[in-house]
Amino acid sequence: MSEIVYLNGEFMPLEKAHIPVLDRGFIFGDGVYEVVPVYSRHPFRLPEHLKRLQHSLDGIRLANPMSDTEWTRLIHDIIARNAGDDQSVYFQVTRGVAKRDHAFPKNTKPTVFMMSNPLVTPAQALVDSGVHCITATDYRWLKCDVKSVSLLGNCLLRQAAVDADAVEAVLFRDGYLTEASASNVFVVKNGVVLAPPKNHLVLPGITYDVVLELAAANGIPLEVREVSEQEVRTADEIWVTSSTKEVLAVATLDERPVGSGKPGPLFRKIHPLYQDFKRKVMRQAA
Ligand code: PDD
Repeated sequence: MSEIVYLNGEFMPLEKAHIPVLDRGFIFGDGVYEVVPVYSRHPFRLPEHLKRLQHSLDGIRLANPMSDTEWTRLIHDIIARNAGDDQSVYFQVTRGVAKRDHAFPKNTKPTVFMMSNPLVTPAQALVDSGVHCITATDYRWLKCDVKSVSLLGNCLLRQAAVDADAVEAVLFRDGYLTEASASNVFVVKNGVVLAPPKNHLVLPGITYDVVLELAAANGIPLEVREVSEQEVRTADEIWVTSSTKEVLAVATLDERPVGSGKPGPLFRKIHPLYQDFKRKVMRQAA
């Protein structure tokens, strides 16, 4: 089965999908997106992803081109048209095609694009060993709660991590932890999980919410509060979370071991809880 994508009302093979060069997504990065993990052909936490899409659209003053019911139907359709039970569905909405002018065009139809790729979750060896991360200054804009397709800051930061053979760049702004270039970050200190609050400096991660819920339901002490750079650098454990990474332990930060240098006891608790939760949700959806 060749990869089938959706563009502005039609399904087509990926090679056939083209957008005009004046699309504001191309010219200005004027658009927002979502990434939904799909397990056993069931989209995970879809209502939450659609709620965040609405938040992002509101954040850039763009009307939602579809209702949640229409989005849901479309997402199930793209899943059915693509191979593989576990997929990663990507979709984006841009402000559409118009003569180049920074100000919003009037009466322009948004561009809607959706594709699905095989979902590649971390190999067990990586879960067992933990990953390497670097740190960097968070120099992105001040609307990081908007899942914008303008990802140049994130791309530069993630490339800095890749250049250092690291999985992620953990970011600090004004001496405090924000998130990482494409993940949220948790820290464990003295048996308590610390999570930076959801505000304009971080993307409200869907996985972040699941981790918060699992910690609360399983008696794992957790505080949502500002986390200082010093606390990160002296943490017993650090985790990165995202729809594709799920929950991963950070073994070394800037080449120094985090805690014992191996995934810590609370990671070994939360990781299986996350896997169980996923399986339970999928069984219910089936
Ligand atoms: N990124 N923070 C940033 C900056 C992100 O880009 C992501 C996810 C997250 C985690 O959000 P979630 O748990 O909802 O996946 C946090 C996606 C996967 C991406 O851009 O591909």
